[in-house]
Amino acid sequence: MSKVRIYTLAKDLGVENARMLEILDGLGVAYKSVSSTIEEDTVELIKQILEEEGAAQAAPEAAQAADAQGPQAQGSAPQGPAAQAVAQAQPAAAQAVAEPEAATAEQASSEPAAREIPHRAPVVTIMGHVDHGKTSLLDYIRKTRVAAKEAGGITQHVGAFEAKTSKGRIVFIDTPGHEAFTTIRARGANVADIAIIVIAADDSLMPQTREAIAHAQAAKVPMIVAINKVDLPQADPERVKTDLTQLNLVPEEYGGDLIVVPVSAKTGEGVEDLLEYISLTAELEDLRADPKGEFSGVVIEGKVDKQAGVLATVMVQEGTLRVGDFLVVGESYGKIKAMTDSAGARIKDAGPSTPVQVLGFSAVPASGEKVQSAKNEHAAREVIATRADVRRDEENARDRRRNPRTLEDIM
Ligand code: GTP
Ligand code: MG
Repeated sequence: MSKVRIYTLAKDLGVENARMLEILDGLGVAYKSVSSTIEEDTVELIKQILEEEGAAQAAPEAAQAADAQGPQAQGSAPQGPAAQAVAQAQPAAAQAVAEPEAATAEQASSEPAAREIPHRAPVVTIMGHVDHGKTSLLDYIRKTRVAAKEAGGITQHVGAFEAKTSKGRIVFIDTPGHEAFTTIRARGANVADIAIIVIAADDSLMPQTREAIAHAQAAKVPMIVAINKVDLPQADPERVKTDLTQLNLVPEEYGGDLIVVPVSAKTGEGVEDLLEYISLTAELEDLRADPKGEFSGVVIEGKVDKQAGVLATVMVQEGTLRVGDFLVVGESYGKIKAMTDSAGARIKDAGPSTPVQVLGFSAVPASGEKVQSAKNEHAAREVIATRADVRRDEENARDRRRNPRTLEDIM
């Protein structure tokens, strides 16, 4: 063994990637991402640090006392070997204060300021050229068959789905590959934490692949490339990698830090690896949201259903959405009459990173619009009135710039 990737080492040693990076920061070792490689000497040092840490934690009271220092202590730079040694040297002192310290920790955690905001599931957008297999890949992950049921096999709208995978809950947004839907796709990238760029191995980079890459880059979301259809005899994954390099996106195995995973939506090959990379990336992003906080969300899509009325898919980003809540979108509001999850089941409430279909909007909201909630109908109307005022002021100002009426307007 000469060099080893950070995430491989993390897995082998059974620690979180984030912890591994903390240790590297503490040692002053430079890296680009978890897929960067590190030298053997560094590996030895890391093992030593973790061993010492393990020894410190073997005395449970000492560990408890360390926990009692609260989130600041956890979030701070890694404690070097020296600090660990000190912790080890004082087990008796730690034991003596363990009980009262633990009580303080409990008190502190019941205060909102000290409460840790919980992790949330990652929202992953699947983008790429038409027919490269985005929907099929999602189908495989969800074990359903959406692509086969689509009119003409083309995704016409942005769909959002929750998937319970071996790596925990992941929320996927499927975007249309057709050029005409560029706007929706651009918005799709904005609600996403991670972008999967699907590239068919028999077709390589196409115009909408480049567009999708540009969207992900503009939205500054981490990108993972899934080279799909590797089951086909004419599949040429190497060509895809070379083509990516031309765009300055250098795959890991060529010495860069772009994660590239060969997959087949048909056979399922590589899909587990893809899920693993998604959860690795999500872990590093340290995604958190407070289900008890103020609600905010984004409209994924809105439509009119002849029977039900206005339906909208909303992604909950912060807080919790409940049936009966008042929602404000742009200059319209509505009261949630009913809500369903992405599997179509009726639900009463939905926390962060949950796509829900909401019944009760008074007008069809546009994709990408922000959704807020209001305490009651009166409050909702007030928010809308203020927004309408702001809009009219802006329109008037724009009018005056175009057709100045007074000297003041010209100035
Ligand atoms: P749009 O929504 O139109 O952009 O297409 P898409 O990217 O969602 O592609 P879709 O999943 O609809 O797949 C397009 C075609 O490729 C279908 O006929 C699929 O059966 C086929 N396909 C998708 N993935 C694979 C794969 O891994 N291997 C093979 N052999 N065929 C695949
Ligand atoms: Mg599709």
